[in-house]
Amino acid sequence: MQLVHADPASIERVLQIDLGAGPHAWPESALRRALNAGELLLAITDVATVGFLVSQPVLDETTLMHLAVAREYQRQGWGRQMMQGWLAQQRLSGQQRLLLEVRRSNQAAISLYRSLGFDTLGQRRGYYVSTDGVEDALVMALDLGLEGSAYR
Ligand SMILES: CC(C)(COP(=O)(O)OP(=O)(O)OC[C@H]1O[C@@H](n2cnc3c(N)ncnc32)[C@H](O)[C@@H]1OP(=O)(O)O)[C@@H](O)C(=O)NCCC(=O)NCCS
Repeated sequence: MQLVHADPASIERVLQIDLGAGPHAWPESALRRALNAGELLLAITDVATVGFLVSQPVLDETTLMHLAVAREYQRQGWGRQMMQGWLAQQRLSGQQRLLLEVRRSNQAAISLYRSLGFDTLGQRRGYYVSTDGVEDALVMALDLGLEGSAYR
């Protein structure tokens, strides 16, 4: 599997993956903005685009904004491989810290992030809109442990 920058031709597949992956797909406009900003990466195998992620660097921290694996490819290890590939890219770029927010109810994603070493820093109450009101976000972080962070 390779993680590559998305090109404009891939937006339809990204939208299709996101709508099928779970109940909280991004609006098309947000995905197009990520594409145009160079923040959208595709996970490509020999046979298909199995997923995508969006991440945003600010100085030496990068925030994972979105991650989705196509419904038909879920629970086959692709989400883990995507995250491991992304972590390797971030390390190579010298990033010091990775951050993300995740819905408290999203046990699949939380369990994936924990297994990769992310710790919970705290929560943002009522951060997400949900079908029955609002939902808290967990804020998670992984310190890549390199020297010289701009924040130290
Ligand atoms: C979260 C998501 C990316 C995981 O992708 P995936 O390819 O299915 O995950 P993997 O097969 O690589 O599994 C990796 C780990 O995730 C966790 N996991 C994945 N699906 C799970 C599920 N349905 N229930 C519980 N844990 C789950 C497990 O810890 C799993 O490790 P294990 O196989 O050793 O138990 C995928 O479910 C998805 O696209 N969900 C919808 C979008 C979303 O919620 N994105 C996260 C936004 S923060």
